[in-house]
Amino acid sequence: YPVKDLRGRRILVTSGPTREPLDPVRFLSNRSSGKMGHAIARLARWRGADVVLVTGPTALEPPFGVETVRVETGEQMRQACLDRAGEADAVVMAAAVADFRPRSPAPTKIKKDDLVAHSAPLLTVALEPTPDILQELARRRRPGQILVGFAAETGDLEALARRKLAAKGVDLIVANDVTRPGAGFESDTNAALLLGADGTRVDVPLVTKEALAERILEWVAARLGR
Ligand code: C5P
Repeated sequence: YPVKDLRGRRILVTSGPTREPLDPVRFLSNRSSGKMGHAIARLARWRGADVVLVTGPTALEPPFGVETVRVETGEQMRQACLDRAGEADAVVMAAAVADFRPRSPAPTKIKKDDLVAHSAPLLTVALEPTPDILQELARRRRPGQILVGFAAETGDLEALARRKLAAKGVDLIVANDVTRPGAGFESDTNAALLLGADGTRVDVPLVTKEALAERILEWVAARLGR
């Protein structure tokens, strides 16, 4: 690989969905495949970085040469990230951490029979927000550390991304419109708007997730080089 602009840099990448248990056999999750985060981890390694990948459950192979930590819940991902973020020169949070989790997971399997015995069977599940890992990392960040967040949106992409950039206190938001064909979850391609806290704005057209990973890593490498 020709470009080694991340040699000697330590990069923490998160990838994939999280699973939030409802009971011992069921969970709440999302459509993230992990392709974007794994591509970033793989390419960061190719560019010379020491990479730690914290990933939720995916069907993907761990990238070669990357220290991979597998987790399930958002809380486990949070712990794994807090344990390792201190050493990272940059953190790229590509994981689709569940924003909500069942407030009180049932200790035993929820039985359908118990429910259908009622005249109007309805199972309601109270959800609570999960801790926002990225925001927590932003609060604890050390000087010079670069934080990149993702935003999967279904509305006015630029407005929502600008709001997220400010709210999360990160250096870069990679925003994608997940309703667009060929972009977002599960697809091999993605299109994104990169908005930097320094005012940079890069519109990346529909490209492979590897190509988008390259654009993100170029952005990170340029800031780390300063
Ligand atoms: O708030 P929202 O989920 O849209 O933000 C997306 C970004 O925040 C992603 O980078 C995701 O990895 C991160 N995130 C997080 N902890 C959460 C939820 C999202 O770090 N609980």
